[in-house]
Amino acid sequence: MIVGISGSPRQKATEHVLTVAMEMLQERGFSTQIFTVRGKKISFCRHCDYCLENKQCVIKDDMYQLYPLLKEAEGFVLATPVYNGAVSAQTKAVMDRCRALLAADFDSFRGKVGMGIAVGGDRAGGQELALQQIIAFYVLNGAIPVGGGAFGANLGATFWSKDTLEGVKEDQEGFRSLRKTVRRFSDQLKSRGASGPSRLAGEE
Ligand SMILES: Cc1cc2nc3c(=O)[nH]c(=O)nc-3n(C[C@H](O)[C@H](O)[C@H](O)COP(=O)(O)O)c2cc1C
Repeated sequence: MIVGISGSPRQKATEHVLTVAMEMLQERGFSTQIFTVRGKKISFCRHCDYCLENKQCVIKDDMYQLYPLLKEAEGFVLATPVYNGAVSAQTKAVMDRCRALLAADFDSFRGKVGMGIAVGGDRAGGQELALQQIIAFYVLNGAIPVGGGAFGANLGATFWSKDTLEGVKEDQEGFRSLRKTVRRFSDQLKSRGASGPSRLAGEE
């Protein structure tokens, strides 16, 4: 199962592109689930360290809908609108709240594969900076980041929405970057097969 996360508070460009990505993955034989932050209550991480002791997050909000999906998924598709040359605050809150998942099981993300989608209103408004944050999130948490390769999708899928849903639908180059990234993501998932914990007992 692949979980796709939309980090936009709107049902506009980011959610549309993520839905298309999920359809591409279904065509390749994967089952998919979408989680959107739209309309959800997801608080910031408080760094209270409750999770380190209790193996769960103290904030009982809508992240509890996402935690089981993240645990079950073999792959992640994180889609964010670009806000001030970065991921949206909603996307960042989701990332930070994953601390509780990793506190419960350090291997939660290990061996899983992740790709990113960044949707900006400007043609070059920081999409790659946002993708770098998504890639760093995967690396830091033990997942394997995948880009789409040279000539269009180096760090992942990037879109120019011109701030509208219609705009993103017209972005042929964006969809090309998505197809390239989904292909590599799918290939990586298929080549890995089933994955398991990589740490031996007693290792840090
Ligand atoms: C607070 C805020 C900051 C933004 N900053 C940027 C930016 O730095 N670069 C950019 O290309 N677009 C920026 N945008 C535009 C959005 O990325 C763009 O409209 C995108 O399509 C929004 O995604 P959505 O349609 O899924 O909501 C910003 C929008 C908002 C609300």
